[in-house]
Amino acid sequence: MNPFLSIVFLSSLTHSSVLCRQSCKLHFEAAPLKIVRASKQYMYDEGGTEFLDCINNVSHVGHCHPYVVSVAQEQMAKLSTSSGFLSDSSSQYAKQLVGTFPESLNICYFVNSGSEANDLALRLAQAHTKQKDLLVVENAYHGNLSNLIDISHSRFKKMPGGKKEHVHVVPWPNTYRGLFREDHANLGEAYALEVKKKIQAVHKEGRQIAGFICEPLMSTAGVITPPQNYLKHVYKLVREAGGVCIADEVQVGLGRVGDYYWSFQSYDVVPDIITCGKPMGNGFPMAAVVTTTEVANSLACFESSFGGNPVSCSVGLAVLDVIQNEKLLSSAKCVGLVLLEGFRNIQPNHPMMGDVRGQGLIIGVELVTDKESRKPASEAAELLTYKAKQLRILVANEGPDKNVIVMTPPLCFNIDNARHVIQVIDKVLAEIERGTCPDQMSAQSDEGITELTIPLDIVSGVESYDDDDDDPHCKRARYEDMD
Ligand SMILES: *[C@@H]1O[C@H](CO)[C@@H](O)[C@H](O)[C@H]1NC(C)=O
Ligand SMILES: *[C@@H]1O[C@H](CO)[C@@H](O)[C@H](O)[C@H]1NC(C)=O
Repeated sequence: MNPFLSIVFLSSLTHSSVLCRQSCKLHFEAAPLKIVRASKQYMYDEGGTEFLDCINNVSHVGHCHPYVVSVAQEQMAKLSTSSGFLSDSSSQYAKQLVGTFPESLNICYFVNSGSEANDLALRLAQAHTKQKDLLVVENAYHGNLSNLIDISHSRFKKMPGGKKEHVHVVPWPNTYRGLFREDHANLGEAYALEVKKKIQAVHKEGRQIAGFICEPLMSTAGVITPPQNYLKHVYKLVREAGGVCIADEVQVGLGRVGDYYWSFQSYDVVPDIITCGKPMGNGFPMAAVVTTTEVANSLACFESSFGGNPVSCSVGLAVLDVIQNEKLLSSAKCVGLVLLEGFRNIQPNHPMMGDVRGQGLIIGVELVTDKESRKPASEAAELLTYKAKQLRILVANEGPDKNVIVMTPPLCFNIDNARHVIQVIDKVLAEIERGTCPDQMSAQSDEGITELTIPLDIVSGVESYDDDDDDPHCKRARYEDMD
């Protein structure tokens, strides 16, 4: 066989026209979806079937948001140039973006992807401290560039080269499955002590650290919210050791957690460097690094041809406007609560529903073979994503064991969507638990969904949300106003 053909299959007959079999994966590999259009929280396939999108990382304020699209179109027709010229949109965007951060973080670099942002963050940390070594968290993922794979434990643990000398891994602060669990006292302190020990070990080797990088809420690691005080203690230890603290907000930032724009704000810490990406352009590729003047002054040079170009800055501004105008933070908070409480309500009925966690519109449901052993139910989780897809709901299974059902819908996701997702997962998981679930992932199913018996509207404060636009705390996103 032609070696080229063994890695690249070209076929105009299948849904996916080009597949690199080894390294490129599609979502729902066994029965891929061909999506031809999307709007709000919905995606549509060739036949016009509507799917509720709970996995899209980038369409933050809703697919093809009409305001964002119109701003992009207008700017594209007016001026699209490489960066390096004075422009109103880039200074305005930098100002507004920086305005969402604590005051000390006042410098903003524009780049094109979250990976590029993390790469620049490492350069900044290393230039500022004149050290190379990094503390990274077990099972973390920070991007797909070679030096980011080096600091992504979830990736390098599977690679032949393994861990690089300058990389030091600290334990996963997972209170359900980690070193210290929910019954342990002072969890934040216990996990932070492990970091202290690691720093001491690094010093013993005669090395110094440049910094510590983590997602304040770990996304692909399975929606891990670290215990209270963990980051506070760790940041202090890292700074005492001369390092800087980097918060990777590429996936979870810009309001997804509901309470704040940035997930680190939940932990009463201020990082030295923050990276943001995916959601900023609502599908338009753009990213940024935000830092202090002091750290920025350490970097001798920085260039990006596309970073901060007029189109991305206009798009970024439009996204910020929509988040504010449609009150998407409070919406994410309210709808996230419905999801969290709803799943917790049905959890006792499900022997496989080990843990339910998250914040705002990033929710994880961890599946186990039984609640006693907590053995990861990886196959069941994958099966569930396929069964949910047959019922027109897109969810993903993530985490090191791929047994955590992760939901990160666009922030315009509403209460009805949340209820529907809970009903579908309730039904499908019950089938899987009873062993009555037909095991073929590609099979079509048109069975209806039985009504849930669990009254989801017992969640405090959300009843008034439904069709009530007067409640300032739970204001519904008025997407229709934008049409
Ligand atoms: C990163 O790259 C690898 C192959 O190079 C690919 O398998 C993987 O899906 C990519 N994305 C992530 C999120 O790891
Ligand atoms: C979301 O991003 C993560 C990390 O980059 C990746 O592993 C995952 O596949 C992405 N999901 C989708 C639906 O693109």
